[in-house]
Amino acid sequence: MKKIRALAILIMFLMIFPSSCLAVKDELPSLKDIYEEYFPIGTAVSVASWANPKTLYTHDSLIEKHFNSLTVENAMKPDYLQPREGHFNFRQGNEVVDFAESKNMLVRGHTLVWHAQTADWFFKDNEGRRIDEKEEITESDRQLVIGRMEAHIERVVSEYKGRIYAWDVVNEAISDSPNVIYRQDSPWYKILGEDFIKLAFIKAHEVDPDAKLFYNDYGAVNPNKRDRIIKMLEGLIAEGVPVHGIGIQGHWSVEGPSFEDIERAIQMYADLGLEIHITELDVGMKGYTEEEQAQYYREIFKIFKKYSDVITNVTFWGMTDNTSWRADVDPLLFDKNQEPKPAFWAIVNTDNPWYVNKAECIGALAFRNSAGKELVTLLPGKYTLNDINSVFSLEEVARLELQKGYVAIFHESEDFTGDTYTYISTDEFDGLDMLNKVKGVNIKHVEFNNILLGKTAEANVAADRAERAIDGNSNSSWSPNAQAPYWLTVDLEETHLINRWVVKLHGTGPLAGANPDGPFNAADYKLQVSTDGVNWYDIDTVTGNTASFTDRNIKSTEARYVRLYVTRPTSLDFNQKLVVYEFEVYGIPLTNIF
Ligand code: XIL
Repeated sequence: MKKIRALAILIMFLMIFPSSCLAVKDELPSLKDIYEEYFPIGTAVSVASWANPKTLYTHDSLIEKHFNSLTVENAMKPDYLQPREGHFNFRQGNEVVDFAESKNMLVRGHTLVWHAQTADWFFKDNEGRRIDEKEEITESDRQLVIGRMEAHIERVVSEYKGRIYAWDVVNEAISDSPNVIYRQDSPWYKILGEDFIKLAFIKAHEVDPDAKLFYNDYGAVNPNKRDRIIKMLEGLIAEGVPVHGIGIQGHWSVEGPSFEDIERAIQMYADLGLEIHITELDVGMKGYTEEEQAQYYREIFKIFKKYSDVITNVTFWGMTDNTSWRADVDPLLFDKNQEPKPAFWAIVNTDNPWYVNKAECIGALAFRNSAGKELVTLLPGKYTLNDINSVFSLEEVARLELQKGYVAIFHESEDFTGDTYTYISTDEFDGLDMLNKVKGVNIKHVEFNNILLGKTAEANVAADRAERAIDGNSNSSWSPNAQAPYWLTVDLEETHLINRWVVKLHGTGPLAGANPDGPFNAADYKLQVSTDGVNWYDIDTVTGNTASFTDRNIKSTEARYVRLYVTRPTSLDFNQKLVVYEFEVYGIPLTNIF
């Protein structure tokens, strides 16, 4: 009996939610499916270490759902694979390769020759002295080290022959200093000079001629380091060394590298005739919001897609923020509960903002009960309350929650005409009360933009320069210097629904330098609205501010006129000079909502 009811509910879900995504939490879109026509999507996994949890097992369903390429985060590095000469340890690597094969995934091998995570013995002579620290390195020292490197490559690459499709043969051999090409502190370089690089590639190719062989590095899109990497690669290619690709690690942050640098580097590496793998992608969000991180991910994936003829693998360095090696900057797509972050939604479809992808997939309007439990989340579209009531009892609803970028227009009549109540995502509203009054709801995406751009402004002081505060140019300011209060009014020309306002103050300006907080920023000010330009209502008030700008969400409000009203232009009573580089109000014309 219960089962039949569950099935009936499921069928109703299917009828209500016509999109390919159901409004069921488990049904996230799969990244590897989305990117199937572009490139495999990989992730680094750990099997066991003191520092890391065993993500291969704790995150296996996430791995299976989204990824079709795996890299072992640590256990294929030389110090793990060969901790003592001749003692190889393939256990953890095998677990990953077995897992990958059972799920039809690719495996990238990381890494054969590196200055880090490589046991000491590789670089010691027969008397136990570090060869790289000797004053004079003899030919037999060199042969000893070459022999060890080649033996390591021989054993490891043959162990996984046919099972690992791409190897990071040499990792991080290029210097960060613009004055030299090669990393000077690498024992490989100190002992063998640059030759170790080509010897490693030649050996790896000899052992597995089918494996794709990569040079892998961080900072690889930084123009300066990029040019030195290219110089090195050109040399290898000219000598006929079997190097097939460049691994761009991609340990980035919301601040950079710039999209221009990323795109340019991809073009230049592609010009060498090499394949490109993004091997260790993670974008730290220190000091930035999840939304800004999502925006960065969206832009870089636009670039990756554009160059998908040369980018043949994009691998994230982990899955969830808390298990990341950069856990302090939350750089990944999933949070500690393995739930998708805005960054995930951003790359689901790079044509849309993340919140549109999310709403189109798992819904925009959530109905919650008094315990906060989600009863259902509706996809954008029109629903009568009868539709909804057939899935669960409306009486259970205590709260509605609307996602960013959406409006919910509640209609009093079943046929979606007549009186309406409109809500936007910043509103909190009591669901029950509303549902008693209405018969249907229309959930729509709307873009809220800065509606002051292109309008005219009036002000009580320095009126001739008032428009400088709304011109979209953050180098020009409205700077009244008389006696507060100061006000600046903008006629929106028609009634708008507004939900956010931003004020960029003294500290954001070119003279103040890099966004300093301080007493020269306006201290007390508020946003007011009016329907007639005569009677004003306070909407949001800031007091005791010292920040260089404020960016505030407000409950959605109708406004024909908006006013910035400043009562304390600085924190210093003797300084009455106000500096406003930009005043922004975000909204949409009311007529565009319906
Ligand atoms: C990191 C791992 O993620 C950490 O767990 C480990 O402690 C240090 O190494 N460049 C590389 C990767 O090529 O091997 C590094 O991985 C991150 C930087």
